[in-house]
Formats: sequence, C-alpha cells, structure tokens
Amino acid sequence: MPGVLLEDLLRPRSGPWVIAHRGASRHAPENTMPAFEAAWASGCGWIEADVQPTRDNVPVVLHDEELSRTTNGSGPIRHLSSLDVLALDAGSWFTTGSTRAYSRTPVPLLADVVQTLGPGRALLLEIKNDHTRDQVLAEMAVVKASGWDDRVFYESFHTESLRHVQAIEPGRPVGLLVEELHDDPIAACAELGAIAYNPRHTLLRDRPELVGQLHDAGIAVMAWTADEPDDWTFLTELGVDGIITNTPGDLISFQRTAHGRLSARSG
Ligand code: G3P
Ligand code: CA
Repeated sequence: MPGVLLEDLLRPRSGPWVIAHRGASRHAPENTMPAFEAAWASGCGWIEADVQPTRDNVPVVLHDEELSRTTNGSGPIRHLSSLDVLALDAGSWFTTGSTRAYSRTPVPLLADVVQTLGPGRALLLEIKNDHTRDQVLAEMAVVKASGWDDRVFYESFHTESLRHVQAIEPGRPVGLLVEELHDDPIAACAELGAIAYNPRHTLLRDRPELVGQLHDAGIAVMAWTADEPDDWTFLTELGVDGIITNTPGDLISFQRTAHGRLSARSG
C-alpha cells in the first residue's frame, strides 16, 4: 500500500503537483531516460510514463502500440522481443533545430525508470493499451523489486488493467484516465477503487464544479496534458491536484511567479 505517495498526492498544497508528461518531452524524446532526467533536473516531483510489454513480457516504456513514430523500428511493440526492442533508437526522430542530440537513445526498461525514483520523486505509471493479468503482474513485480513501490501510482484508460492491479494487490489505489467524462465520475471511481480521476484538461471547462465534487468524495484530480499558461491558471484556480505537462520547468516557473497573484485573487 503506497501510503507515503497517497499522503503526498492528497495533502493540501499551495498549488498542483507538476507531472512531467512522458518526461520533459518538449525538451528531449518522450519516454526516454534523457526526458526523465530533464524532468527531475527541472525540479518537478512527478514524472508520467507509459508502460507496455514486449513479446517476452518485459515491461518497457513506450507510448504507441506501434514502434514507427518514436523509434527506428516498425510494427507492434508486442511483436518484438526485449532484446530487439532494446537495440532500437528512440532518440533520432527528435530534433532541436537541425540537431539530432539524442541519436541512439534506447527505449528504456521500466526497471531503469523506477530506479530514478527516490524521496520527493514519484511516478505516475500509465498501463498503456490492453494488458493481460500476467503483463500487469510483470510490471508490478519490476516496480516492487526496485524498492520504490510506494512512489508509483498506476493509472489507465483501460478499466480491465486497473482491475488486474487490484486483483494482484487488493486495495491498491489506482487512477482512472478518461477521454470523456462519466455521468457519475464518483460512482465510476468507487466501482474501480480509484482514488484519482484523471481527465483531459479541456473536459473540466465544461464541468468545472466536478473538481470540488470529486474532492468532497476524497478523489484527486490529475489533468492532462496542459502546456499553456491560460490553462495552468484555470486548472490551478479550480484546485486540481496535479497538472500533467510536456514542459515541467515552465510550469514550475509559472507557479513561482503566479503563486502570489493567484493566492491574492483567492484570498
Ligand atoms: O497521463 C495521462 C496522459 O498521458 C494520457 O494520454 O495519450 O499522452 O498517454 P497519453
Ligand atoms: Ca500517458
């Protein structure tokens, strides 16, 4: 039971947690070690990463079902062995101007990503795409073996994956990712044992009162993926618990400069 993390997630704070979406993915190739290291270096407390299994059920960090957008491979990641996936280049596609600074950056193992955790650092781990129970089990085993189990919070769009987490570890809190709001989000969370309801941030424009309702039910809100100061202001004033962003350093700077202004407005 990740007690430390839950206290961090739900404790009252002066502003939302900054959660680096696929790492600092505006500045380094998404879901790679340089992106995660850049996120930590920016001073954020959370990173977000997408985990999927290889053919031989080794948990690796990649967003798409297919390899072609972010690596020099092709086809579904689940068709390749871990040996083949680890030989891919997940950095050459990413350019800054005309520079390819991240050539030959590999697809990370989940084990490598969790090793970067520690006090003050947490991982929002999205169980990406369909998973079998054995695939979720392998991911949870890697997290447990790292010694940082209490710093990892699982979330998914796939309710079946969340059910697998709880079948493996009864009572473990999870987060429910949503592309469309439920009529009754609190009931949806209760049914799954979810303690966080994580919507696309724009959905909260239609139902801003939802954040307070979820909080009253003891449910946190981590909104994705917001990169614009106007959205950061809106989400901060709503009182969301976390903002998932591709530019964590910019959001941290925004919080430093905007904090006084927002507090003054609400006070
Ligand atoms: O963690 C939330 C967010 O990552 C969900 O969307 O497509 O970026 O994985 P996506
Ligand atoms: Ca994700």
